[in-house]
Amino acid sequence: MALAPPRSLLWRVFLLIAAVIVLAIGAWVQIFRAYDIEPRTRQIAQMVVSVVNITRSALITAKPDLRRELLRDLAEQEKIEIYPAEPGDRIRTPPEDRPMLSLLSAEIRKHLGDDTRIALERNGERAFWVSFFIDKDEYWVMLPPERVERQLALQWLGWGLLVMVLALCVAYGIVFRLKRPLAQLTGAAAEIGRGRLPAPIDESGPEEVETVARAFNQMTRDLARLEEDRVLMLAGVSHDLRTPLTRLRLAVEMSGSDAPTKEGMTVDIEDMDRIIGQFLDFARASGGEPPQPVDLRALAQEIAERYRHNGQALETDLHVVPVLTLRELAMRRLISNLLDNAYRYAGQGVCLRILTAEDSVRIEVLDRGAGIPAEETERMKQPFTRLEGARSNASGSGLGLAIVERIARMHRGRFDLLPREGGGLIARISLPVQAA
Ligand SMILES: Nc1ncnc2c1ncn2[C@@H]1O[C@H](COP(=O)(O)OP(=O)(O)OP(=O)(O)O)[C@@H](O)[C@H]1O
Ligand SMILES: [Mg+2]
Repeated sequence: MALAPPRSLLWRVFLLIAAVIVLAIGAWVQIFRAYDIEPRTRQIAQMVVSVVNITRSALITAKPDLRRELLRDLAEQEKIEIYPAEPGDRIRTPPEDRPMLSLLSAEIRKHLGDDTRIALERNGERAFWVSFFIDKDEYWVMLPPERVERQLALQWLGWGLLVMVLALCVAYGIVFRLKRPLAQLTGAAAEIGRGRLPAPIDESGPEEVETVARAFNQMTRDLARLEEDRVLMLAGVSHDLRTPLTRLRLAVEMSGSDAPTKEGMTVDIEDMDRIIGQFLDFARASGGEPPQPVDLRALAQEIAERYRHNGQALETDLHVVPVLTLRELAMRRLISNLLDNAYRYAGQGVCLRILTAEDSVRIEVLDRGAGIPAEETERMKQPFTRLEGARSNASGSGLGLAIVERIARMHRGRFDLLPREGGGLIARISLPVQAA
């Protein structure tokens, strides 16, 4: 399974900075090594040559009875030990592929002679071994390995790590400062998504963040104004249309046309009146009505009676639910809109249900029609949207579900359109029990 790249800004910045630092330090180490290796190796070679020469001279000039003491001193104080070479010595010579060691060997031989032997291990003991001659006898000088090894890389690694930790702290600081306004922005955007207008967000911070915040606040204000304008226009136009429509209906009644023509015109006028009614409802769904305690069960009972009285078949399943503080007229509008849809688009198996589930009171309108495809449900909640297809040629404004959605939101509730088991639609409103 491929490792997914981290999605949070914090981690991305972290990783990016870490990668940049590792690269930079790696490059520096390489550059430094390239420039440093030669002078450094010569220096080490010089030191080794001096040690061998001094040891050799000391051994030659020291009185024979003092040699033992000299060797002990060297071993104790300088960690340099001298051994006579044996014919059976097993030694490991430096590998050819290490440029630094090759250079070191060459430098040492240049000063001590070509017959000088160099080893990294003698008879199983790891150290830096250099041989020298006194007359025809060969001796080994054993130097502690740390004298010739480079501690450089590790030191650099330590510093690199420190720089990295510091840089990551700084990155954390930067991202942390960025995160706060971003979180605010996300919250505000989510509020808008839920159909509420968020409070203006902080217009401070780095220039870019400030610009975004200001643009966002401007957008929120524009949205609010747009919404107000739309509602006002809708309400105004609808209201002004009602009076001429009433006059028109009277005129049709009084006209001398034959009965079928009159009836057709009356039906059209009634359709127009209903659509205007929806426009007004949509405008009114913004509020205005004061909330009051409502027993949803009783309300549903009353609405059901009215539908049955009009000759509509309606099943009910009404449970006792807590009394909620609601806008009653809006709730009536909501339930009738859902029931009207059920009769218009399904026409059978219509059922109205009130129940409590998961801390919320539910209003459900069920039917046995064709339902709404899952991918269309969100779109249907938008104003003026209707399903394409044979069953939706009935006249409608496409505002019904938008009104339902608005009223549900106004009460901090949810509105879901779900498929019903066995075919049909469930329109479900969930209202929080603590809705005040
Ligand atoms: N119960 C349902 N079964 C199948 N389709 C539905 C149902 N309810 C709504 N729809 C579809 O969703 C669309 C939008 O419904 P909505 O109530 O918003 O508008 P409308 O009924 O067309 O007009 P209005 O309610 O404003 O008179 C409808 O046109 C219809 O295609
Ligand atoms: Mg409708």
